[in-house]
Amino acid sequence: MATMNRKRVLTGIKPTGIPHLGNYLGAIRPAIELTRQHDSFLFIADLHALTITPDRAALRAQTHSVAATWLALGIDPDQTVFYRQSDVPEIPLLAWILSCVTPLGLLNRAHSYKDARAKDQTDDDINHGVFSYPVLMAADILALGADLVPVGKDQKQHLEITQEAARKFNLRYGGGEEILRVPEALIDERVMTIPGIDGQKMSKSYENTIPLFLEDKQIDKATKSIKTDSTPYGEPLVPETDTVFQLFSLLAESPDRVEALRSRYLTGRKDPTGSDAQENYFGWGDAKKALRDEIMAHFRAPRDIYARYMQNPDEIDRLLTRGAARARARAGDVLARVREAVGLPLNVCPSGIDPEVSA
Ligand code: ADP
Ligand code: TRP
Repeated sequence: MATMNRKRVLTGIKPTGIPHLGNYLGAIRPAIELTRQHDSFLFIADLHALTITPDRAALRAQTHSVAATWLALGIDPDQTVFYRQSDVPEIPLLAWILSCVTPLGLLNRAHSYKDARAKDQTDDDINHGVFSYPVLMAADILALGADLVPVGKDQKQHLEITQEAARKFNLRYGGGEEILRVPEALIDERVMTIPGIDGQKMSKSYENTIPLFLEDKQIDKATKSIKTDSTPYGEPLVPETDTVFQLFSLLAESPDRVEALRSRYLTGRKDPTGSDAQENYFGWGDAKKALRDEIMAHFRAPRDIYARYMQNPDEIDRLLTRGAARARARAGDVLARVREAVGLPLNVCPSGIDPEVSA
C-alpha cells in the first residue's frame, strides 16, 4: 500500500449507531490508514439511511454519533473531505441521470433488493429506495470522481453496478471517452472476521459485540464474558484459536507485546521463565485482564474526544458543512461535464441560487 500512487479514495458510512470492535478493526482503522496516504473523501450516507431509518430524531443522532466516532478515531477533517451525503445535491441529481442508463435487470439482481424479497416482503412492502440503493451509491462514487473505493466484501456487487453504470454512461454519452471515472473496489480479502464474545463473527445482529467507547467498568464486564475453553488454571492455553488472544494481537501494535502474551499462553505462566508456584500461574482471567487493559488504553482518549463532540453537535455540523462545500466544488465539476454530455443546461450557479432572483 505504501508504494501505491496517490489516488482519490472515497468511502461512505451508513449512520447506524455506535460501532463495535469488529467494525473498528475490520473497516474503520484500515479506512483511516488509507485516508492518510491518499486524497480522501469520507461521507455519512444519510440519504441511504432513509431507506431504513424513518425516525427523524434517530437519523440526526446517529449521523452525529457516526461523525463523532470517525473524528475521535483519527479522521483529520483538514486532510480528508468529510461530509454528509445530503449536503451535496449534485449526488441525487447524478443518481437520477444514472437511473436512466442503468438496466432494470441489474437492479433486480442486486442483493439489497433480493434480501428484502427473501424476507417474505412483496414489492408492495419494499420501498423504491431499497431497490435503487445501488444507483445512489454509484452516484456517491462517480460524482466525486473516485479512483478507489474501500469497502467490505458485502459491497462488492454494488461496486460492480457502479462500474457498469459508469461504462454505460460513457458509452452512450462520451462515445467511449471517460466522462465518468470508472472506479476500482478495494476489498481487502485478508481482513479477518473479527470474533465476538461468543466466538462467532462480531456483529450487531448477533448481540455479541464489544462496543467502542464503553466505560471502564463495562469494558471489564464485556471482556470477562468472552467465551473460552475449560483449560485448568496454570495449564498451557492455545493462542491461535482464542478470541481473547486474537483481539489482543489486533489491538496491540507492538509485536513484542503480542509475543510476550503468546509465551504466557504457551507456558501457562505469568513469567514464562519463572517458577511453577501457583502465584506464577497464568489463566483465562489474566488473559482477559490483558485484553481489558489494552482496550482501555486504546480507546480512552478517543472516548473522551467522542464525548466532547457529542456534547457539541454544532461543531460536528460545522465541520460537515465545511466538508460539503469542498465536496460540492469537486462534484460541481463532474456534474458540469455530465450535464453538458446529456444536453442539460449549465446555467445554474453552483450554490443553486440564482443571484438575479435573490438580489
Ligand atoms: P454489523 O455486522 O455489526 O451490522 P456492519 O454490517 O454495519 O456491521 O459493518 C460495517 C463495516 O464493518 C463493514 O465494512 C464490515 O465489513 C465491517 N465489519 C463488521 N463486522 C466485522 C467483523 N466481525 N470482522 C471484520 N469486519 C467487520
Ligand atoms: N452501502 C454502503 C454500506 O452499506 C455505504 C455506502 C453508501 C458507500 N454509499 C457508498 C460505501 C459509497 C462506499 C462508497 O456499507
